[in-house]
Amino acid sequence: MIFLESERLLFRTHELQDESDFISMHTDSEVRRYVGGRPWPLEKARTRFRDEYLGRPKETYGLWATILKEESKYIGCCGLRAGDKKGEAHLGYYLAHPYWRRGFASEASQAFIGVAFTRLRLVRLLADVEKGNDASEHILQKFGFQFINFEEIPASGRIINLYELTKSEWYKKST
Ligand SMILES: CC(C)(COP(=O)(O)OP(=O)(O)OC[C@H]1O[C@@H](n2cnc3c(N)ncnc32)[C@H](O)[C@@H]1OP(=O)(O)O)[C@@H](O)C(=O)NCCC(=O)NCCS
Repeated sequence: MIFLESERLLFRTHELQDESDFISMHTDSEVRRYVGGRPWPLEKARTRFRDEYLGRPKETYGLWATILKEESKYIGCCGLRAGDKKGEAHLGYYLAHPYWRRGFASEASQAFIGVAFTRLRLVRLLADVEKGNDASEHILQKFGFQFINFEEIPASGRIINLYELTKSEWYKKST
């Protein structure tokens, strides 16, 4: 199922043909550097794909297979995770290393922010980013997300920064 399209990207349900690209992405230490810190072992990546991604998302929330239209190629997964409170969701994006720095995460973010505030009529978007993930923080700030607080993961000492974008801030910025 195709959920959404932007200029260069298409967001659809994960299919079996995405498995090898999904595995390559999550077994890459650069990709996992600020999301857990370690690459997933091959078996973990395969199991996660089959148990948690294949055939999903089915509707609205979840990370959608992100396809580069001109190459018909799986380049990552992006989307919204339902929040704990009504009217809120979390924005998330993961792209394969060869496709970084071409504006794809920004394009995906813009598309899902639009979905959140127009199609879904949410009032607040959240995003958490590990300290040091400068590209991700840059994207959030570019779209008007504000830093609200941070949390330290006791076991690892890693710092997770929490950002928010309210519908009113987004509306002000986009008009
Ligand atoms: C974070 C990530 C999604 C960025 O994807 P991307 O497609 O390269 O991002 P974009 O090209 O849309 O934009 C990156 C922006 O950050 C800037 N940037 C890139 N690397 C940067 C860095 N190290 N420091 C500061 N800014 C940086 C770029 O110049 C660009 O800025 P601009 O829009 O003003 O030109 C990608 O690196 C990724 O998937 N990383 C692994 C998973 C991950 O960390 N996900 C995010 C979890 S919070």
